Amino acid sequence: MFPRLKTLMLYVLSLLLFGLLMYLHKETKSTINSVTPMKEDTPEEQPPFWDATPLTFPRCHSKPLNLSTLVPLPEPHRLFLMYKHCRNFSTLLKPSKCEKDTFLLLAIKSLPINIERRIAIRNTWGKQQDIQSKKIKLLFLLGKTDSTLPAKSLRQLLSYESIEFKDLIQWDFVDNFFNLTLKEIHLLRWLNKECSHAKFVLKGDDDVFINTFNIVEFLDGLNPDKDLFVGDVITNAVPIRNTKVKYFIPHSMYSAPHYPLYAGGGGYVMSRKTTKGLLSSAETTDLFPIDDVFVGMCLEKINVKPQFHAGFKTFGIQRPGNPFDPCLYKGLMVVHKLNPTDMWIMWSLVKDEELRCASKSFL
Ligand SMILES: *[C@@H]1O[C@H](CO)[C@@H](O)[C@H](O)[C@H]1NC(C)=O
Ligand SMILES: *[C@@H]1O[C@H](CO)[C@@H](O)[C@H](O)[C@H]1NC(C)=O
Ligand SMILES: *[C@@H]1O[C@H](CO)[C@@H](O)[C@H](O)[C@H]1NC(C)=O
Repeated sequence: MFPRLKTLMLYVLSLLLFGLLMYLHKETKSTINSVTPMKEDTPEEQPPFWDATPLTFPRCHSKPLNLSTLVPLPEPHRLFLMYKHCRNFSTLLKPSKCEKDTFLLLAIKSLPINIERRIAIRNTWGKQQDIQSKKIKLLFLLGKTDSTLPAKSLRQLLSYESIEFKDLIQWDFVDNFFNLTLKEIHLLRWLNKECSHAKFVLKGDDDVFINTFNIVEFLDGLNPDKDLFVGDVITNAVPIRNTKVKYFIPHSMYSAPHYPLYAGGGGYVMSRKTTKGLLSSAETTDLFPIDDVFVGMCLEKINVKPQFHAGFKTFGIQRPGNPFDPCLYKGLMVVHKLNPTDMWIMWSLVKDEELRCASKSFL
């Protein structure tokens, strides 16, 4: 009787074991099955949106304008006037969240095609995520490519770049010189909504060298809730009336003999108080095709005087001697203009603790 019971128990046990094995097998299979189709369903271009409801705006159409005022103007100016009323565009790619304790936001204007420059920046002066335990965030500001370029593959590359680095913000307007004012307005809105805690903002181009160590040292101890706007400030700049120059502005678009005080768009620093004032001022100011002049106009409205600082060289270096003297870069804050290779060289030199520079006193 006992041996029979033993056989029965063994039999039952093996049945249970077999059942368990079958069950496990089915489980793994079903998880595999449920994962694969999901992967196929997810479009490749889906950026890692942390905000589920991005703002979207309907397409903005051109205004019918008096042809006799448009025809004599160059093509970009005509386009600008026809679309000047279009100021709200959707966000196509979003960056990672802006941390509450961000000290400095580096907001860098870049074209979608300038991947090489962004790589150089991420690996050189944009690399430091904190300096003296002050948090720094890097952000690239992009529009859309012109349709003349192979737009689709570039779009895929951008969405990959965005997933990988989470430092791109892209808006739904064509990225060209005359639309840079739109970047300014959209950045100010984003700052106000998503990054209003950042104490200071540096806005610059992707072809400048920024000595982030010096910038942090300069800003350290300054009050972010007081107005501050510092850069390469130009006084009494005269509007260019020569149609062949990129910066040409006809009397019909700006009639005063001088522009207001403004800082070269290559790189300037502002406090969070000033960004807030600038936003309210920009929302009620007509777009102007030259973005740094536009910012000057907005500053004038809120009575903030841009301050000149010799460390900001946005119009290049006019100095005798070797323009690649690393000591020069050690003392400066923003220098225009460097290609990616020069950025690598300069960064390694600037970071070199051994490098002895006799004086930084020319600042
Ligand atoms: C267009 O502008 C010209 C010159 O400024 C003016 O003479 C003409 O009446 C305007 N036409 C219309 C339809 O407004
Ligand atoms: C554009 O946005 C601004 C502020 O975000 C708003 O005041 C304005 O009404 C908007 N205009 C249109 C046409 O959506
Ligand atoms: C600016 O972007 C808008 C939207 O993409 C476009 O319609 C407009 O033509 C652009 N402006 C200029 C001056 O190219």
